[in-house]
Formats: sequence, structure tokens, C-alpha cells
Amino acid sequence: MLFFNQSLLLFLGLSSSALASDAPDGPAEDPRLAHPEEGVYTGPLADGGNWKHAFDKASSLLAQMTLPEKIIFATGHKGPCEGNIPGIERLGIPRFCIQDGPTGLRFEGFVSQFPTAHTVAATWDRDLMEERGKGMGREFRGRGVHTHLGPVTGGPLGRSPLGGRNWEGFSPDPFLSSVASYITVKAIQDQGVITSLKHFIGYEQETFRTARWRINGTVQTFRQISSDIDDKTLHETYLPSFAEAVRAGSGSVMCSYNSINGTHACENDQLLNTILKKELAFQGFVLSDWDATWSNMSSALNGLDQTMPGQGFSIGGDFGATLVDLVNEGAVPIERIDDMVLRVLTPFFHLGQDKHFPDSPTNEPRDLTGGLLVQGNESDLQFDLTDDIPDVQGDHWKIIRKIGEESITLLKNTHHSLPIKRSTRRLAVFGSDAGPSLYGLQSCGTDNYCHDRSRPYFWPGTVTTGAGSGTAWAPYVINPLEAITRRARRSYTGHTQVDWVLDDTAYDYINITATRAEQCLVFVSSFAFEGYDRDDLSLWNDGDRLIETVASHCAETVVVIHSPGPVLMERWIDHENVTAVLMAYYPGQESGNAVTNVLFGDVSPSGKLPFTLGKSLEDWPPQGIIDELVDQPNATFPEGNLIDYRYFDANSIEPRFEFGFGLSYTTFEYGKASVKVKHSKDSKALQPTNEKFEGKGGLYDQLYVVSIDIKNTGRRSGSEVAQLYLTFPSSTPSQPPLLLRGFEKLHLKPGQTKTAHFPLRAKDLSVWSVEKQLWEIPEGELVVRVGRSSRDLGEAIELPELS
Ligand code: BGC
Repeated sequence: MLFFNQSLLLFLGLSSSALASDAPDGPAEDPRLAHPEEGVYTGPLADGGNWKHAFDKASSLLAQMTLPEKIIFATGHKGPCEGNIPGIERLGIPRFCIQDGPTGLRFEGFVSQFPTAHTVAATWDRDLMEERGKGMGREFRGRGVHTHLGPVTGGPLGRSPLGGRNWEGFSPDPFLSSVASYITVKAIQDQGVITSLKHFIGYEQETFRTARWRINGTVQTFRQISSDIDDKTLHETYLPSFAEAVRAGSGSVMCSYNSINGTHACENDQLLNTILKKELAFQGFVLSDWDATWSNMSSALNGLDQTMPGQGFSIGGDFGATLVDLVNEGAVPIERIDDMVLRVLTPFFHLGQDKHFPDSPTNEPRDLTGGLLVQGNESDLQFDLTDDIPDVQGDHWKIIRKIGEESITLLKNTHHSLPIKRSTRRLAVFGSDAGPSLYGLQSCGTDNYCHDRSRPYFWPGTVTTGAGSGTAWAPYVINPLEAITRRARRSYTGHTQVDWVLDDTAYDYINITATRAEQCLVFVSSFAFEGYDRDDLSLWNDGDRLIETVASHCAETVVVIHSPGPVLMERWIDHENVTAVLMAYYPGQESGNAVTNVLFGDVSPSGKLPFTLGKSLEDWPPQGIIDELVDQPNATFPEGNLIDYRYFDANSIEPRFEFGFGLSYTTFEYGKASVKVKHSKDSKALQPTNEKFEGKGGLYDQLYVVSIDIKNTGRRSGSEVAQLYLTFPSSTPSQPPLLLRGFEKLHLKPGQTKTAHFPLRAKDLSVWSVEKQLWEIPEGELVVRVGRSSRDLGEAIELPELS
């Protein structure tokens, strides 16, 4: 049996220590590994962790398999789903269906278009995160999908505000992203569907994500972007959400397109074997992003368990027969192959997918569109009007609407411009973002963007989601104009007139309509899609000019923004006629209803920004998106832990609106925060990690609870998101001034007081020691502050010494 030796590894140009520092000691060498002393295969082999029962079931099936049968589980095949594993009939193992994506079932009809991850993060509401996950899990299961390609748990995290896929993830803050990731994974898997955490790791830009890139019309080939992340930053900023999602028991992780420190993510021994499988003790399977496998042997040895899309149509490693040969030649040990099979089958048994799992589709190509374009081009349209598609939506529209309402973030509200007053007689609505898509729901294709001669990518109406594999077709879209019109008729005096101009640049009509209106609602947007980063942070469709034009005539101009992240507002934010501004993110199919309920005051806004809004792109760390065309593009992450608000704080940059900011129609009074030492053992690890901690107890044990009373002092019901930020002792290297370490959303009736509690775990107070390769609580004063946003905090409280 031959393992990689160091010289062969160097010959292949691979690095056995991709990250700057040495690996932590893993568990003792596994006796099941043949000849461990010979090779550099660092394992470890799965043992099922907390899934012993499922692991045993998988092991007894494994014992009955031939080598080619084993390889089936490591290799994607052509089939009806995005990813397919054919299964083994003689052993009663069904075909596995693997499907996108993080906002719902991609290119299928009669499914929900859920709010995106960054939208649910803006609710800061754990219950809504859970309901969304459950709803998505039910829909995936209902359609017979075994593995859900999501959630995006930190790749991208959102290092640059220009990142084309930031909206698919929760927030650039590792703590907010961690909480949302844990909840989402657990909620989806509770429905019996495996989650595949995306995209491991350092996938922070679209530009150069693959090694082929179209430049001025010609395709050029070079090495894809390498994210060069130091060990400390990796552990403290980019890894935490993945760690939480592994603790939540995720059955799968997807390795990313980019390289990390010069080594492809899907054949990166340090990341996959040492960090993911040893340090985080991950027991599930690593599947490659589509065409992100570059080799067979080194991918197999360095931790990849399943290659996608697989046999016959992957560009790089496609396993299959090649892997059989490699085993027969002794280049890849059979134990590694067995490990792959066990890692794939253990979550399958653990989640009960062997029992009563709905049929996955059998038609090819997968067509659950219900009469939509399934393949071909304009001259060769193929439709299949299938009637018997299971409708899996249930009443998920309710949770979608609620998330829409609860995420909307009120940024400005002068002269009590909102909610819209009952006495308002002439309302006018502006912007293509207020109206229906000109070309319908699904005709723009499976990536959900349209193109015409002048614009390669756009969405022709109100923007409810982004484009690419993270999108889902909506079954319907309630657009803002429609919902506002209905709402005005329903409960106002009956004398409210709702006028509109949907053409963003029809300035003559805009001038006339705005002049006649008492209150103007301007809908603007920015669109984002996989494969490309945003060019800049401006609004699309001349949005700034639309707002300025309306505001020049209309004394009460309300701006509503649908965007994938930060946009710049400097041209109009201080205009005295811009009296209110709402950030509405990408809310999914119920968009119009959600925003209308907030505009008219049925619901008080309670969303808070899950990212910072700056005044210019230069406010964010430089070297965000690397786009210089060189043979090997490298993103060096020079800002370390200082991304988003941490960079603004550390460099005393005044944001336009800070991280965690959001206004309400009511008012809240904060009491005095207090802290108690309150030790309790971690009870949330469905699969515990092996992360080392130098201190008493476990890394995830709770040490303190900070509490604060909050009172609704206004006359309306409303919800407040209280936030807790930590400051490490000033002697602690590489730390930002403030780090989010707790939040709670309280729903309060007028006059009501409730207490917010912020449990603090050892990990929340620890830093990663590169030298010792473990987590430790730094010496010195640890200080916390509680408040309404990252820049509106109460007095500092020192955490008491632990006995
Ligand atoms: C994307 C993944 C997606 C896969 C399958 C890739 O291009 O990066 O997020 O799951 O395609 O559609």
C-alpha cells in the first residue's frame, strides 16, 4: 500500500502545510489506517461521533460492497438532480438527489422563494431563522432531495461589500453568521434533509473563482484566485460559522473553487483533513463544488469524499474508474475509500433517509417546472407540462411574509414621515423595482436573470432575490405597487389615490406625478449574481437620479431599497425631502405585502443592519476584490479580522449607518446591564468538535450571563434587537475594538418591560493562539457593552474573574 511521500507531494506542487502554522495534535493515530508511518495521509477516518448507530448500519452495508460499488458514493453521475449518486439496488440503497440551494429549490415550479440569508439575518430573530430552515427542509424533503446545497455559512462571509454572492450568506459578522448557521442547519436537518455547508473556505470573491475567465470577449486561462489567509484570521473570522454548523450536525460540507494559500480547496490536506475533520471532528462528507476538483489521487488523499458533478463531465478529478485504478495500484488506500462511503452513508441513516423518504424524480433531465423551459435555446424550446408535481409549499408564504416584515430596517424617518398617515390622499409609487417583472416569473432561465442587448444581467421588475445557483423561482410575486394599492383601498378613508410611474428614467412623467403627490414612495434596487462581483455600490437603473428627481418635487419622499448588501446613499440621504429610508434586502415572493405592512404601520420596523453602510467604497478595507490579471491572482486578506464594522471602528471611519442600526415607530428604554458568573456545560453540540481550549471546562461551556431590562416607552407594539459587544484587553493582538457576542430580539407591547439575556461561552471570550494551536481567554480585563447598535452602546461592564 503506497501513501504520498513528501517528495511526490512537492513534485505535484502541493503543500502539505497550506496554512502558516503547524497542525494541532489530532486524535491518536487511528489503528484502522494501514501503515500510517509510511505516508502523509493525515486522516482521520470517521468514527461516526455521536451518530454511532447510523455509523454501524453504514459499516454493515459497506462490508457487502465491492470496490466499484464503493466508488459509486464518491462519484457524481448524470441524472435528474443537480448532483446525483446512483445508489445500489441490490443493497436497497436508493439514488441520492442533491439540489440547490440556499433560498429554496432551484429551477423547480410550485416551490417557495424564501427570503435570502442576508434578509433573515436582518431580523436578528432566532425563531424566524428556525422557521425558515424548517420550511426549506420540508420543501426539499417533499421533493425527494437528500442533500440541500446550503446554507452558505461563511464562504463568502462578506469580506468585500462588492462580493457577488454575499446575499447568499448571512452576515460579514462571524457571530451573527454562526448563530444563523447553527439554527438553519439544525432546522433543515430536523426535516430529514442533509445540509452541505458552503463554500469551504475563503471563497470571498467571484472574480477569478475559476481558472477560465472571459476578458474582452476572449476566454483566458490561468490559475484561479488563491485566498491567502493567516491561521489566526482563518480561525477567528472565517471558520467560526462552519464550526457552529458542524456542531449542529451538518452531514456535508462543500469545498470551494478557490485555492487557499496556494492549494486547491478540494485537495487541501490542511483545511480538509487537519482542520475540518480533525479539529472540528466533522463526521460527514466533503463534496466538491461543481468542477472544483482538480485531481483524483491528491483530492482523495487530502480529504475530498465526493466529486461533483462527476463522471464524464467534471473537468478535473472525476473519480469513478480512475479511483478504482488508483486503489488497485496502491496509490490510494482502501481505508480511505471505505471512509468516503461511511461518511456519505452515516448521515443518510442518521437522518432516517432509509425510511419513508419521498421519491426523488426519475425523469431526465429533472423537470419539476410544471410547464416551463427545461432546455434548449429560443429556436428549440422544450416544454413538459407535467401535472403531478407535488406542491410542497404548505403555508410557507406566511413565514416568508413575516421575515420580510421583520427584516425591514428603518434607516431614516424625519417628521414622523412613516407610517403613512390615514389622512394621506395622494400617494405615488416610483421605480421599476415597485412593479412586476416585465417578462414573468421564470422565462429568464434557471439562474433567474434576464439579458438583452444593452444589459447582460438584469431583473426586469421588483428585485426579490439574486441570481445564480442561490436563486429559487417564485410561484408568484406580490409586487409593492400591487400591495400598496390594495392596502390603500382596504383601510384608508377610501379617498387615497395611488398613482405610479414604473419607468425609472421617464423624467417628464416622474416630474408630473411627483409634483401632484403628497407622499412619494421610491423603490430602488441593486442586483447581484453568482459568477461576478458587483462593479460598485451604486443603485441600478439610475436609482440615485430617480430619487433626486422625485425628491425635488415631493416634500415627503420615502425610499425603499432592495439590495444584496451595502449601497451608497450619499447623493440623496441628507436631502430634506427624503424623509424616510427603508432597507428591504431580498425578501422573496411576499415582498410587496411585507413592505406595505411596514409602510402603513401594521407592523413597526424592527430589522437591524447585518452589515455596515459606508459613505464610499474607500471606507471598506482596500484590496477587497482582486481583479488584476496575473498568472496567479492572490487575495492576501491584509485586514485580518478587521472586516466590515470592525475595520470602520479600528480606523475611526464614520459610517453612514452602522452595523446593528435600525429605527422603530416606537421607543425603547434600556436599563442597566448586569453580569453574573453562571457556569453551565455545553448542551448544544449535536456533534462535538475537537477544538482545543486552554482553560477550565469546555470551549463551548457557558461562563457568564449578561442581562438588561428593556421597556417599550412608546404607544405602539414593537420589537427591539439588543446587542452585546465584547472588547478584549488592549494587549491582545489583532483584535478589533468591538466584537458582537450576543443579541436578543424582544417583542414588546406599549409600556411592557422584558429582560434580554446574553449567555457568554468560553469560545466567545477566547482568541486563537497560533503558537499553541488552541483557544485561550486572554489575560486582562474583558469588557462588554450592551446597546441598540454597534455605535450606540451603554456603559462598559468588566467581566468578573472566574474562580
Ligand atoms: C456553485 C454552487 C452550486 C453548484 C451547483 C456552483 O457553481 O458555486 O454553490 O451549489 O454550482 O449548482
